Amino acid sequence: MRSFLLSILMIAVVMAGCVESKDSRGGASAGARHSEATGLDALFSHPSPDSIPGGQRGEQIRLGYEMVVHTQEFAAAYVGNRLTCANCHLDAGLDPNSASFVGLSRVYPEYRARAGKVLTLADRINECVERGLNGKPIPPDSHKLQAIVAYIEWLSKDVPPGSRMAWRGIPSLPSAKPPDGLNGAKVFTARCAFCHGADGQGTMAAPPVWGAQSYGIGSEMARVPVAASFIKSNMPRTRGWALSDQDAYDVAAYINAQPRPDFAGRAGDWPKGGKPADARY
Ligand code: HEC
Ligand code: HEC
Repeated sequence: MRSFLLSILMIAVVMAGCVESKDSRGGASAGARHSEATGLDALFSHPSPDSIPGGQRGEQIRLGYEMVVHTQEFAAAYVGNRLTCANCHLDAGLDPNSASFVGLSRVYPEYRARAGKVLTLADRINECVERGLNGKPIPPDSHKLQAIVAYIEWLSKDVPPGSRMAWRGIPSLPSAKPPDGLNGAKVFTARCAFCHGADGQGTMAAPPVWGAQSYGIGSEMARVPVAASFIKSNMPRTRGWALSDQDAYDVAAYINAQPRPDFAGRAGDWPKGGKPADARY
């Protein structure tokens, strides 16, 4: 049963990888958020696995891929929940609608308001380890952290430096009216519970969306407009863009109102201001 579900998902992932356009929700706002990128628009593409070099560098890139996809096995010592990187960065970071990794080596190091300082790519990865994966940072000199960086560097190799990457990040989905949690609960039961479980704790087919094994309140996924946008374009898995904006918003508000791990370092966030109005704390 498990391998059957997995093979369906694999096919779905491959199909999802072929869809490279965004609708109106995409590009412009994502680019505007990262407004320092002023160059020409880059087209979304990712290198083919044949272009992974041989030798140690190739092994490092492959290890980085494993870390992203099989995070539970390859980063067990650092992860504090049941998620993998690829559960949110779909298709191992190749999906242009879920905070793709393509091109990121071209933009880091970068100033981030939440941290109040310039972060390297490795620092930004560790933010997700601590918040998205509710874990402990991977030591900066660890070959495992360097492997993820190497994987992202390889994915970024065809993006010209300085180009504008319209696919970057997950733009906030605007909402016309305040979220309606009751409608959110209905949408969850009708469209999500089949895979994520009626109790949100995940099933063999999908990871948890709330509870101790899910993402923490310090993750950007805990912001309703970000989760709404991710859900709109990607959920139900392989049936992205099927929900109305309002349903995506309501179900995001519903799942984000459920209990999830706290983030111990939250008092240190946005030390110099710039906190988004929808921040969870
Ligand atoms: C719970 C979901 C979740 C998990 C798990 C997760 N991330 Fe993220 N990640 C996000 C979200 C949401 C963002 C913010 C995207 C944005 O900036 O709009 C993000 C941002 C990032 C960024 C910066 C993207 C950019 O455009 O600057 C990197 C790099 C990253 N994650 C790497 C990782 C890695 C590597 C892992 C696993 C070790 C991981 N993430 C696990 C949700 C997650
Ligand atoms: C067909 C099964 C399926 C359905 C239905 C589905 N999902 Fe998912 N969902 C997945 C899978 C599988 C992943 C992980 C993606 C991956 O690893 O490729 C995921 C990931 C997620 C994530 C990010 C990771 C996490 O667990 O936090 C969120 C949030 C999410 N789904 C919300 C929803 C919402 C809300 C709905 C209903 C509108 C929904 N999903 C419907 C299968 C599904």
